[in-house]
Amino acid sequence: MTGRVAVVTGGTGTIGTEICKHLAAAGHRVVALCLPGTPDCVPEDWEAARKREGYEAKVYGCDVANFDETAEVLSRIETEIGPIDILVNAAGITRDATLRKMTPEQWRQVISANLDSVFSTTHVVIGGMMDRGFGRIINISSVNGQKGQFGQANYAASKAGIHGFTMSAAREGARKGVTVNTISPGYIESPMIMAVPEEHRAKILAEIPIGRFGKPSEIARLVAFLAAEESGFITGADISINGGQHIG
Ligand SMILES: NC(=O)c1ccc[n+]([C@@H]2O[C@H](COP(=O)([O-])OP(=O)(O)OC[C@H]3O[C@@H](n4cnc5c(N)ncnc54)[C@H](O)[C@@H]3O)[C@@H](O)[C@H]2O)c1
Repeated sequence: MTGRVAVVTGGTGTIGTEICKHLAAAGHRVVALCLPGTPDCVPEDWEAARKREGYEAKVYGCDVANFDETAEVLSRIETEIGPIDILVNAAGITRDATLRKMTPEQWRQVISANLDSVFSTTHVVIGGMMDRGFGRIINISSVNGQKGQFGQANYAASKAGIHGFTMSAAREGARKGVTVNTISPGYIESPMIMAVPEEHRAKILAEIPIGRFGKPSEIARLVAFLAAEESGFITGADISINGGQHIG
């Protein structure tokens, strides 16, 4: 047991749940945040499912697109569970539309959920991490933030913005033991990819040299690796994990 408190936004989602599992296996005390009112945000069911899998993790409801709510919930976690040493920003949404059709609402929703959230959570925890001389912040971006994607100007902008944020936060945290890194997954087996029409999905698959979609556990392993004490020399990096779909 490291006993370190690890908070995972989007922690009850497909990739988030797997991240929680790997962080718990590494001995951290895991807290998942989820968006109240969404299908995967049923705290007692999720916590019970984790217990059946053999580990403990707690759930707090929190809309991470809302700055004040995020500050309140994270402060409550620090009081009730302990200082947050590991933060994984995995909450994310898509609202795809071509630029001709994209509404300001679709733009704002995605920027708020995917990018404002990273500022809000980090803002709350980074001071304490620096004071204690240890912190790990891991931001989940996307291959589409690195290369752009048709119909995803909002999503790609939010995900590219995440890495600009990571690089700046990494510089601020470096002397104080706080590392900040981005992980940019390619297409992962998940409802998000299954929502893509079959014909389009086949085209995406054809672009992946390894010839398959990634698995949530492959992202989670990398998160747990970066969260470890021994990974303290890795900071400001954007680590691609995409089956060779985008190399460069
Ligand atoms: N699935 C993929 O192929 C893929 C590829 C690249 C990057 N990603 C990124 O990985 C992350 C996880 O994706 P996933 O496939 O597990 O999706 P998912 O939909 O299963 O999980 C996303 C989670 O974020 C939560 N969330 C969304 N808005 C929120 C808000 N305002 N406040 C709190 N929680 C909120 C959702 O409730 C959900 O639990 C996302 O950031 C996504 O952009 C996914």
